[in-house]
Amino acid sequence: MDQQKRREFLKASGLLAGGIALSPFASAHRSSYGFNSNVDDTIKVALIGCGGRGTGAAAQALSTKQNVKIVAMADAFRDRLETSYKSLTSKKYTDANGKNVEGTAKVDVPDSRKFVGFEAYKDAMALADVVILATPPGFRPYHLEEAIKQGKHVFCEKPVATDAPGIRKVLEVAEIAKKKKLNIVTGLQRHYQPNYREAIKRIEDGALGDIVGGQVYWISGGVWVKDRLPSMTEMEYQMRNWYYFNWLCGDHITEQHVHNIDVANWVKGSYPVEIQGTGGREVRDGKMYGEIFDHHCLDLVYADGTTISSQCRHYEGTYSRVDEAFVGTKGRIDSFSNKNTILKDYKGKVIYAHDSKGDGNPYQIEHDELFEAIAKGEYKFADAERTAKSTMTAIMGRMATYSGKLVKWDEALNSDINLFPDKLAWDAMPKVLPDENGFYPIPVPGKTRAV
Ligand SMILES: NC(=O)c1ccc[n+]([C@@H]2O[C@H](COP(=O)([O-])OP(=O)(O)OC[C@H]3O[C@@H](n4cnc5c(N)ncnc54)[C@H](O)[C@@H]3O)[C@@H](O)[C@H]2O)c1
Repeated sequence: MDQQKRREFLKASGLLAGGIALSPFASAHRSSYGFNSNVDDTIKVALIGCGGRGTGAAAQALSTKQNVKIVAMADAFRDRLETSYKSLTSKKYTDANGKNVEGTAKVDVPDSRKFVGFEAYKDAMALADVVILATPPGFRPYHLEEAIKQGKHVFCEKPVATDAPGIRKVLEVAEIAKKKKLNIVTGLQRHYQPNYREAIKRIEDGALGDIVGGQVYWISGGVWVKDRLPSMTEMEYQMRNWYYFNWLCGDHITEQHVHNIDVANWVKGSYPVEIQGTGGREVRDGKMYGEIFDHHCLDLVYADGTTISSQCRHYEGTYSRVDEAFVGTKGRIDSFSNKNTILKDYKGKVIYAHDSKGDGNPYQIEHDELFEAIAKGEYKFADAERTAKSTMTAIMGRMATYSGKLVKWDEALNSDINLFPDKLAWDAMPKVLPDENGFYPIPVPGKTRAV
């Protein structure tokens, strides 16, 4: 390939400024913008964390209008990587000219660019212009730090950490990314979902007056459980069954409910100054559920005195709701479900009703907008800071329910509770271990330390 032409594209798109090394495997393509036809405009992507969401995000990156290729993949486990590779190569995609192409044309990942293990992410990132980070969230601060150090643009999944030291690292890295003008889009996809964007724009413009209360929910059944096999070390078991261990997942309040808590923060335009709450394990009693709770109820208290209530739970066979509602001094919104995103006043008059006809899929829109910006050399996305602060809000909620204490923002953010293992190796020990019967210690309000 013509290194000089790729260098020109990288310069025009701003990728070179990020310190991208030229590599020998991109081929010549026509730019969808026509600003440098005959120039190799391939945007090379490394997928880090090849599970369900990583595979989905990679497929979305490949379905944008730009010339995107996956050139490297990294996972802690070979089997997860190969399943993802098979899935991505067996799909069909649309290329920059609107033609259908086979997955094998877009996923250029020979065995030499498949990396496995705890350190795999570094080698994979080095080969790419953009990285997708979709491991369990406990690794996110370290992977984000490396991506920005290597000068890569990033799509990274939420949440972005599982403890306060992780959040502090992400906040530092977010500042460095801003200085380096590296785009970071995070997977709080409601920010890329038209009904949320349109309704919240109007709320920010005062359509409901001051927001003085609300409720946010993720109440649903639970998620998957992975069995312990006799061959597994404790580290492998926790990594496979990651949802139930806080160093990896942060509890479901962080992993799932961050979406709704983030909407509360978005609508309020700030972050809670204090949180108190109640939580526990009502129906989740097996050893396979590790250390996490199955319900949390919080008061999120903002600086102006507004309290927003938050509920999340994992109870099979019960009422389910994943949504948000707010009341303002002039009106209310009762739901953000696509068909019901309606702002009304207290006489019932509709202030704004979102028409969701033609709305795109937010999971696709976040990639469409990111890759368009990258190809045009634009610096448009700095999602890491707000995602870190919304993740911190969820962690602070967990601190409140685990301890039963009133937790303040500053003490939570400065907490030195560090959940991450001292060493990452298959024979190393995570910090929380099972007793002789295989049960993990469960936090006890009134006894468990808050911050
Ligand atoms: N935005 C959304 O709606 C949404 C939906 C689902 C998941 N997610 C997020 O995506 C992330 C991944 O979730 P998932 O459902 O895909 O989980 P998953 O278990 O399917 O995938 C995680 C993958 O990361 C790999 N992995 C673990 N540690 C690693 C490491 N240190 N280095 C490299 N690879 C590693 C695992 O082996 C696995 O293949 C989570 O943060 C989750 O919260 C977001």
